[in-house]
Amino acid sequence: MNEMKIPEHIAIIMDGNGRWAKKLGLNRIFGHKTGVKAVRETVEICGEIGVKYLTLYAFSMENWSRPSDEVEALMSLLIESIVKETAELNRNNVQLRTIGNLSVFPENVTVKLNQAIEFTSKNTGLVLTLALSYGSRWEITEAVKEIATKVTTGEIKPESINENVIEQYLTTYNMPDPELIIRTSGEQRLSNFLLWQGAYSELYFTAVLWPDFRKKDLLEAVDEYRKRERRFGKTGEQIKQEKD
Ligand code: IPE
Ligand code: IPE
Ligand code: MG
Repeated sequence: MNEMKIPEHIAIIMDGNGRWAKKLGLNRIFGHKTGVKAVRETVEICGEIGVKYLTLYAFSMENWSRPSDEVEALMSLLIESIVKETAELNRNNVQLRTIGNLSVFPENVTVKLNQAIEFTSKNTGLVLTLALSYGSRWEITEAVKEIATKVTTGEIKPESINENVIEQYLTTYNMPDPELIIRTSGEQRLSNFLLWQGAYSELYFTAVLWPDFRKKDLLEAVDEYRKRERRFGKTGEQIKQEKD
């Protein structure tokens, strides 16, 4: 694929694991397990086509309210996958990061996660960020709290607060906004994912259920993205002139 207009940052809402399993008459957990293969393929293809940042919505803040056996199975799967996949990620020069409220995770999960993050921290290839116990409203609320505290102590002047300042207090302070947000499973909503960062993202929805998502599906999304005209409030004519 020609390198032109490959998004620097792709974010994916990996949805449809439960329905995938149900279709086969299996437990939802089986869908989550099979979804790991789709993650592997997506990481590989993003590396191959030169995407720099891949952010995967793996567990939302709202997902804590699922039945406890499903939450427990997801936690075990998370540990298992990290342990199994880290060496391969490292071989591929992938740097692992997380965003979300990790403080609410069981300690055995955070220990393994932090080990993997530390282990891959010097890698210079794809930055793979897992959104875990993530919610945009939580993230923005935390940013507001931190900024307000600094206003109280005089470290920040209210009149100096602008979009750039706010961005520095979001969990994504060290990455660009995603140009493309993909959601699988046919649902067309953001479910509290990257609300600030996605202000001008191109949205791509596919009916493919996450466990079935393959390299070709990612390439289709990127192809569609490349056909879009990103106008950022300007007119189509202005955009054409800028290109000439
Ligand atoms: C996405 O698949 C994975 C998580 C939210 C953890 P779902 O589990 O939401 O699958 P559906 O939407 O019920 O099919
Ligand atoms: C969004 O999927 C969260 C993740 C993919 C991790 P959900 O399945 O939780 O979203 P809703 O509840 O259908 O909006
Ligand atoms: Mg879902």
